[in-house]
Amino acid sequence: EKAGYDHFMLKEIYEQPKAITDTYRGRLLRDQAIIKMSGVEDNIKKFLNANRVIIVACGTSWHAGLVAEYIFEDLARIPVEVEYASEFRYRNPVINEDDILIAISQSGETADTLAAIKLAKSKGAFVFGICNVVGSSIARETHAGAYTHAGPEIGVASTKAFTTQITVLTLMALRLARAKGTITSSDYHHHLLELEMIPNKVKKALEYDNHIKTIADIYKDATNCLYLGRGYNFPVALEGALKLKEISYIHAEGYPAAEMKHGPIALIDENMPVIVIATKKGHYEKVVSNIQEIKSRKGKIIGIVTQGDEQVRELADHVIEVPETLESLSPLLTTIPLQLLSYHIAVMLGKNVDQPRNLAKSVTVE
Ligand code: M6R
Repeated sequence: EKAGYDHFMLKEIYEQPKAITDTYRGRLLRDQAIIKMSGVEDNIKKFLNANRVIIVACGTSWHAGLVAEYIFEDLARIPVEVEYASEFRYRNPVINEDDILIAISQSGETADTLAAIKLAKSKGAFVFGICNVVGSSIARETHAGAYTHAGPEIGVASTKAFTTQITVLTLMALRLARAKGTITSSDYHHHLLELEMIPNKVKKALEYDNHIKTIADIYKDATNCLYLGRGYNFPVALEGALKLKEISYIHAEGYPAAEMKHGPIALIDENMPVIVIATKKGHYEKVVSNIQEIKSRKGKIIGIVTQGDEQVRELADHVIEVPETLESLSPLLTTIPLQLLSYHIAVMLGKNVDQPRNLAKSVTVE
């Protein structure tokens, strides 16, 4: 049940420190400096010899795939493409035995993702699944895989599934980077250490809940909202916008911050809240200049910043802090305030948070 929370979504947001810990338990063995994932270990040659990795998924799981694109390429130097399963399956894609397909799905039942897997298998590709639901169709249809171990996710809006998918994908990228020699030993150890600290940092990020609620109250009547992020946090911007759309029915768009000047900047006026992910590591100065551009057009700025930040605080209308971590792990923290913001707005608007209109928890038809 809801364990005292008003909604499953809120419960699941708060479960993330534990869910992430459950995801890396038994896999991240820091004392021995190893990452143990049998699905990867048993097929390590395939992974190391692969020409490229193609990730297929839908919705929030597709956003986790986009985060993985950054981390796989950055750490393991493996070329990655991320595709909507629905587009991939109907595109007559070029794929063969030298490719690896990674399918990401919380439910393991998404029809388009399942069809993409069958297509890739028919072309001889090795297919790896990342699912939450044990024994689900996708878990059974793939050659190998890794479960997220997030526990049941009941709220239609995906929260802990997202952060645990990113956790699994990070472990995989680190394991492969180590095997390929594309990461230094000190960088590898640093990642293991920082990853172990993430659950506590998520707890810290959750402590800003009341502050986020007051921000939600100010912007709940907005009709549009823009989310911006760069690099690792670009997919988080997309995810933040999706969360707001699906439960509060406020139109929202996520964009890479630098793309703003190629179109969306025309939308900015004093009625447009812009949520900007502006954490210290990774393109910080560039994001700050994006913020200046929004400010000069009177847009309302909500900055997601690293604890202790001063520069963005001066420019923004509001800031929400998250603890400092490695840039590659920052999506696990920056996504937390965005989940809470959309949750509170939806509750204040009286929407059915756990079961938004027109949506199903798993989309088993195309
Ligand atoms: O079960 P799956 O991860 O395959 O589901 C994919 C999407 O349908 C899902 O992430 C959807 O976008 C969520 N409602 C987002 O919160």
